[in-house]
Order: sequence, then structure tokens, then C-alpha cells
Amino acid sequence: MNPKILPFSCLVVLLILFARYQVSTSAESRNLVEDTCRKAYEEPDICVAFLRTDSRSLKATSVKELAYIILDICIANATDTCNYFQRLRDAISDRRAKKAVELCVADYGFAVKYDFPRAKKKLNSNSYAEAKKLAHNGAGRAVNCSRHLTPFLSSNSPLMLQNSILQYLGLIAEGIIKLLQGKHV
Ligand SMILES: *[C@@H]1O[C@H](CO)[C@@H](O)[C@H](O)[C@H]1NC(C)=O
Ligand SMILES: *[C@@H]1O[C@H](CO)[C@@H](O)[C@H](O)[C@H]1NC(C)=O
Repeated sequence: MNPKILPFSCLVVLLILFARYQVSTSAESRNLVEDTCRKAYEEPDICVAFLRTDSRSLKATSVKELAYIILDICIANATDTCNYFQRLRDAISDRRAKKAVELCVADYGFAVKYDFPRAKKKLNSNSYAEAKKLAHNGAGRAVNCSRHLTPFLSSNSPLMLQNSILQYLGLIAEGIIKLLQGKHV
């Protein structure tokens, strides 16, 4: 073999390998989101759609990263909803309705300040059983809020749908964290 050709052919091989690697990483992240959602939640399409709203999910290389991402989405969504409930509470005058909305502010406050951030902390220490329980509790806050609002709103009102979104998000987070249990990742 001509020794002068060797470095060049090596370079070509390296370039080809590099290009293949680049293609496979983005495809792998896409597959990671889809595979994870298929295993984590009974309606994988909803799970995929939520995760894709955060561009970090396109580069994620582990289920654990996806767990952090979905918890961040939970916190952001619950924070917005909580702020909305606070404005609503201040704007309405009916005493009983005001009280119901006040309970929702408290429910969402716990989800935002306690359940989801603590779930992230538990992920840090690989305490998956506790992280899973906290995510489940976060979803439960939305269920409880819906219960408070039921006397005042129909089930397909936008606020009730907003509650369902947080419930889905919390249950998806729970499902993803469950996949981590018993694994060292
Ligand atoms: C929560 O997330 C859903 C789905 O991404 C979005 O449609 C909705 O507007 C969000 N709500 C808030 C209050 O952030
Ligand atoms: C929801 O409400 C029920 C009944 O009041 C209560 O036992 C439960 O702890 C609440 N769940 C959450 C997550 O706040």
C-alpha cells in the first residue's frame, strides 16, 4: 500500500463515520422520545407532543433527561395556570366561586412550589419511588382543583381542559420516572 494515501483514506473513513454518527444521534433522540412515551403512558402521542414543546428533548440521550424535561414542562404549565387562577380569583365577586378558585390557587401553588420541584430533587439523588409519588401528587392537585370547580363550570370549559393538561403532564412524568426505577442511569 502506498503510505502517502493512508492518511487521506483514514480521513475519509473518519468523515464518513462522523457523518453517520451525527445522523444517528438526532434519529436516536427522536426514537428515545417515542420509545419512552410508548412505555411510559397509555396515550404516547400526547406524551410525544408535550416533550417536543421543549427543544431539549431533541438532543436528549437518556430517559432520565426526559424525566427532568417533563417535570420542567409541568412546573412551567402549572405556574402559568396558577397565575391565571390568581387573576381570576381577584376578578370574580361571587363568594362561593371565589372560594373555589382560591382552593385551586392553593392546589396549584403546592404543585408549583412543592410536588414538581421536589420530584426533580429526588431524581438528583436517584430516589425514583419518591420522585414518582411526587409527580403523581402534582397530577392529583389538578384533579382536586377540577373537583372544586365542578359546581361552577361545565367539564369542557377551557379551565377544566387546562386542569386535564396538568393532570396528563403529571401522569406522564410519573410514567417516565417509573421507567427509571431499578435502573442505574
Ligand atoms: C399548558 O400546555 C399546553 C400544551 O402544551 C398548552 O396548550 C397550554 O397553553 C399550556 N398552558 C399554560 C397555562 O401554560
Ligand atoms: C386531594 O383531595 C383529597 C380529598 O380532600 C385529599 O385527600 C388529597 O390529599 C388531595 N390530593 C392532593 C394531591 O392534594
